[in-house]
Amino acid sequence: MKLIVNGEEVDLPAVWWNSEQKMVQLIDQTKLPFQIAIHSCSTYHHTVNAIKSMKIRGAPSIGATAAYGLAQAINEFWDEPEYLTKVSSAYDQLLLSRPTAVDLKRGLDHVKKSWAVSPDEAIVQAQKFAHNISMQGKKIGEVGKSLIRENMNILTHCHTGALALVDHGSAIAPLIASWEDGVRFHVYVDETRPRMQGRLTSWELTQYGIDHTVICDSASGHLMSSGKVDLIILGADRVTKNGDIANKIGTHNLAVIANHYSIPFYSAFPDTTFDINTLTGTEITIEERNTQEIYEIRGLSKTTRTQISVSVYQENTHCYNPAFDVTPAELLSGYITPHGILSKEDLGRVYSN
Ligand code: MRU
Repeated sequence: MKLIVNGEEVDLPAVWWNSEQKMVQLIDQTKLPFQIAIHSCSTYHHTVNAIKSMKIRGAPSIGATAAYGLAQAINEFWDEPEYLTKVSSAYDQLLLSRPTAVDLKRGLDHVKKSWAVSPDEAIVQAQKFAHNISMQGKKIGEVGKSLIRENMNILTHCHTGALALVDHGSAIAPLIASWEDGVRFHVYVDETRPRMQGRLTSWELTQYGIDHTVICDSASGHLMSSGKVDLIILGADRVTKNGDIANKIGTHNLAVIANHYSIPFYSAFPDTTFDINTLTGTEITIEERNTQEIYEIRGLSKTTRTQISVSVYQENTHCYNPAFDVTPAELLSGYITPHGILSKEDLGRVYSN
């Protein structure tokens, strides 16, 4: 993605391996949209923490980061006598860092194949994995743009742009591809409490000049009932064999209301998000995050122009913070994949090959 860093235009992915400094680097998403900052992870342990703290987030980007993290551990421990024990432990820590996205295990297993080959090969494989994800984003854009027509109002939830998919994005990719073709439409961006990934969506759409309006999550039903939403496109963190999707908390509410008003509802994702080994959404582990994310909000101080966190509840208020929910397959109109727009019946056929 093209970014202005220190006054210069640079083309950066969400996460990459810096071969000169031998470290994983990523765009720190916790600083956006107020500041573009590069975060460096010099050990695999730092990379685990970057995933846990959501400096990098979005299922496919998490997968790519985990792949780099394991490659990094292979490099760190290669010459040590307890090499296998140490890389196995790194694998487990990375696997547990965010439990819902299957992309994470995909990335780890891809690199694991090279852990007896060489440290350099592990890096090459992590780079291939990351590159493949971003190329799939490009394909998703080409495939999904057929759904978008002039003057449509499209609603999206959470954030599915380049930052979430190494590059190009998943659900956002069709919007960009269509906009670049000259089609003009408007996007409603769910704010997506509590982590406010809508800020990232708004920031990315702004880079392309795409017309959009941010709404509180709770406003979406009202918009749908007033005929102001023609299409919903969002991402997925894990898609099970039967077509159920785990996605950012609030997706299920949207799907139920969209279904009530017969509004087309699509999920876009790369191959790494499809999980043929999990039969239905009830088997997915839903990550529960720290409740501090609910009672503290990060923003820009109007006086100092620095980023601060403020409490919006008393500290001991009981909160509950599931990060994802599961939307059953029957509520989806289809799946936007690099292989075309698929029905739930198509999924098993395409992904079992
Ligand atoms: O918790 P996050 O921010 O890592 O959640 C992931 C998401 O951004 C969404 O759920 C998204 O739809 C899938 S990732 C492209």
